[in-house]
Amino acid sequence: AVRRPAVSAASFTRGVSTQPDTSCNTHTHTHTHNLTPPMQTVTLIPGDGIGPEISSAVMKIFEAAKAPIRWEERNVTAIKGPGGRWMIPPDAKESMDRSKIGLKGPLKTPIAAGHPSMNLLLRKTFDLYANVRPCVSIEGYKTPYTDVNLVTIRENTEGEYSGIEHVIVDGVVQSIKLITEDASRRIAEYAFEYARNNQRTSVTAVHKANIMRMSDGLFLRKCREVAENYKDIKFTEMYLDTVCLNMVQDPTQFDVLVMPNLYGDILSDLCAGLIGGLGVTPSGNIGANGVAIFESVHGTAPDIAGLDMANPTALLLSAVMMLRHMGLHDYGNKIQTACFDTIRDKKVLTKDLGGNSKCSEFTAEICRRIQDMA
Ligand code: IPM
Ligand code: MN
Repeated sequence: AVRRPAVSAASFTRGVSTQPDTSCNTHTHTHTHNLTPPMQTVTLIPGDGIGPEISSAVMKIFEAAKAPIRWEERNVTAIKGPGGRWMIPPDAKESMDRSKIGLKGPLKTPIAAGHPSMNLLLRKTFDLYANVRPCVSIEGYKTPYTDVNLVTIRENTEGEYSGIEHVIVDGVVQSIKLITEDASRRIAEYAFEYARNNQRTSVTAVHKANIMRMSDGLFLRKCREVAENYKDIKFTEMYLDTVCLNMVQDPTQFDVLVMPNLYGDILSDLCAGLIGGLGVTPSGNIGANGVAIFESVHGTAPDIAGLDMANPTALLLSAVMMLRHMGLHDYGNKIQTACFDTIRDKKVLTKDLGGNSKCSEFTAEICRRIQDMA
């Protein structure tokens, strides 16, 4: 069996071979080096709490890098449409329909009441069926783990997240975990394509088909079938609980992991924890025909909102994923290098990263490094 060696965060920031780690090369783009690429519009959803601050940090850094992006800002709040259905505001929908690419900060989700999560409604509205979260150790940011280098690929449209719940009789609630052949097949295909396009060597299907025999059984069967068409990628299947156990013992044994929605929600947080948390972990929601929304998946942090204390790294690295998705690899690499160099250098860090600098200072340091590269 081939197992690819984990690369250090240092090579992740530099070498060509490491470039794929946060990219989404599902479709091949060509780009010319000496020509300035045409401006492309991206829908920016700043979000709630610290969202606006970290969004403006990303915009400043993109400006320093002269990234050819025109931002179209849209607020996403819960709107009740005809028939009482919750929807995203029409101007946000219209912008995304045109731009096809979004970058979004955190949106607050009320707990067990009120409108549904706008985060989920966005995924549903644009059928963003694949959630991709690369977890790669960051050099200079110490955690109990080194050499983590894996990607979780989460089915993003169904499972326990289908939102089908009802009271059967007083005191008894039923929640439906919906698993379909089509969604299982397409996420399995996405995972194998991703592995192939990003020079990764193995895909692990994560499941509980020993217990959820029919639903996870169907998911697993589709993964096995798709694996048949990707003989160049090693396929393994593992129980979710075993993955959790083995993950905290030695994460370097994992490469690409594919799983149903709720398992992916939980396991992707666990994996983010291995490299330093949600504040440094990027995320992309990918749909068909290039449509995608990249987002930080940490909370809105209302306690520090407006205080210039937030860490923009997760949103910035999500924006780097976005640039690669758009074929703008050079800009993505430049920004990523400046961000990781700033963290490795330890001189200008936000509080959560162990420093005492403001968000604006951390941002300015990244901009300075980008300008020095030019
Ligand atoms: C995530 C988040 C969301 C989820 C919340 C905010 C609805 O935790 O993107 O992982 O549960 O999927
Ligand atoms: Mn989550």
